[in-house]
Amino acid sequence: MPSDLNKPHFFGRRTGRRIRKAKTSLMEKFLPRVKIDKDADFDLNTLFNFPVSTICLEIGFGGGEHLAGQALRHPDIGYIGAEVFKNGVANLLSLMTGIKTGAELPETIGLANGRADNIRIFDDDIRLLFAKLPDKSLDRVYLLFPDPWPKKRHAARRFVNPDNLRELARILKIGGTLRIATDHPIYKPWVLRQLARHPNFKWTAKSSADWRNPPADWVETKYQRKALAEGRRPVFFEFERTEA
Ligand SMILES: C[S@@+](CC[C@H](N)C(=O)[O-])C[C@H]1O[C@@H](n2cnc3c(N)ncnc32)[C@H](O)[C@@H]1O
Repeated sequence: MPSDLNKPHFFGRRTGRRIRKAKTSLMEKFLPRVKIDKDADFDLNTLFNFPVSTICLEIGFGGGEHLAGQALRHPDIGYIGAEVFKNGVANLLSLMTGIKTGAELPETIGLANGRADNIRIFDDDIRLLFAKLPDKSLDRVYLLFPDPWPKKRHAARRFVNPDNLRELARILKIGGTLRIATDHPIYKPWVLRQLARHPNFKWTAKSSADWRNPPADWVETKYQRKALAEGRRPVFFEFERTEA
């Protein structure tokens, strides 16, 4: 387990604006159904109610737009989403159930029409889940617009760091992929430097179009929209987990 987990603070915020009534009910009544309990035993083989041969993880899913979009397109793939920000978790639950803020709550809350039961949520620091994930168990990890912590004195807080890359390399299958998007001028070269130093990751880009343009299966995120509106251009890096 990374040593800084023992530090008393978390680098980010866990709550934001007051979560509205419908979303509070979703947190109370629906989240337990799809939540990965950090204190309970956890078996990837039985996590989903149906057999899945492909499992993807999204770290810091924010409002869950990308995760919900991917899961809708690929009902046969299992998705694990990790997010510490409660309002983001509530928003993902709203996307999964189709229940919006201010809506009348049905007697029993279920998945929205047409949705497979293929999302599981870890509503805490992903680093707590790493230890429970077996070696070579995931096909893809998404890390989309991680907090850039641009000040030099905050560089140790950046998620892309040797400790986390070691864990990501361990849990990804050989040939699995790590997709990282960022819009920050300091984080772009930082990501490439960190990944280049790691012996088990290979940048897959063949030309600049491969990292300048979103991948074909891309789903836009809230943070990405914000970046574009403010004139920052995102990049989309994809790294393959290779043998040592
Ligand atoms: C800048 S936001 C991007 C959100 C989303 N991916 C998007 O593109 O809209 C980064 C998110 O990562 C989450 N986060 C940061 N560190 C995390 C961790 N260790 N475990 C889980 N979530 C984390 C934050 O709470 C925040 O919501």
